[in-house]
Amino acid sequence: MKVVVSTALPGPALDALRAEHEVIVGESPYGLGHDSLLALAAHHADTAGLISLLSDLIDAAVLSAFPALRVVANYAAGVDNIDRSEALKRGVVVCNTPDVLTDATADLAWALLLATARRVTEGDRLVRAGTWQGWSPGLLLGAHVTGATLGIVGLGRIGRAVAARARGFGMTILANNSGRAAPQSVENVIAVKFDELLERSDFVSLHCPLTAATRGMVDARALARMKRTAIVINTARGAVVDEPALARALCSGEIAGAGIDVFVHEPCVHPDLLSAPNTVLLPHLGSASIQAREAMAWRVCEAVRDVLAGRVPKHCVE
Ligand code: DGY
Repeated sequence: MKVVVSTALPGPALDALRAEHEVIVGESPYGLGHDSLLALAAHHADTAGLISLLSDLIDAAVLSAFPALRVVANYAAGVDNIDRSEALKRGVVVCNTPDVLTDATADLAWALLLATARRVTEGDRLVRAGTWQGWSPGLLLGAHVTGATLGIVGLGRIGRAVAARARGFGMTILANNSGRAAPQSVENVIAVKFDELLERSDFVSLHCPLTAATRGMVDARALARMKRTAIVINTARGAVVDEPALARALCSGEIAGAGIDVFVHEPCVHPDLLSAPNTVLLPHLGSASIQAREAMAWRVCEAVRDVLAGRVPKHCVE
């Protein structure tokens, strides 16, 4: 059967898919995207499987352009780029890549937390600029991480992995599940309401999926409730945060810093965030370890092979 893959994936997983199916791979490393998918569909309407990237909008137009589609396997844990109710209506199974990227993403959240708290990128820039004049008691003082309070918004797999690392730093760990069920009991994690988490946390780390309930939840009101010394870490989805409000809070000193891996309109970054103080910005690298990305490739290829062979895939999204 015919399978469209948005772009080449790391590792050997695509070879196993090619052994069973005719595989068409998009040429751009950034994926086909909505319009190229529609254009491709004109010549490959018999496509039965699609491996999409989180940057490919899979809406009703794409789903109708591929009437023979049986499975969309998203090369990500998040599936907010896919219109799941349209897929369900058409009987298209939607799969994703949970678990294999949990540790990589939790590690990166910690990289951002430590980099922002301890002003790592500012220090790097100072040294490279040749303007460092020597050791000084007041040079680039940052926030103390060990023993501080971490607020985790979204205590799913990644949130729990972030909490596990926080235990090593002797932190008080608060968590909230953004309006959904309260966190199940997790070792050393205190379940609190969203506002209490905002008010008590030194670091607020976002790990919730992007849904109607979480879109824009870190807005001006939420930021105003945080400590002036608070640091926000976002490795979830850009749209969970109101970016202009975050930039204003950073510039006015309402909060102390932000480490951001995800943006509302990737790859565009809100210009006010580019100039905001004590802000570390990364190009959506959460799952970008070699092991995680190769394992994600196996997950999506396996999902397509399973569905097209009539087997129940392991990671389909409700
Ligand atoms: C995901 O899997 O949703 C991540 O954002 C990819 O890095």
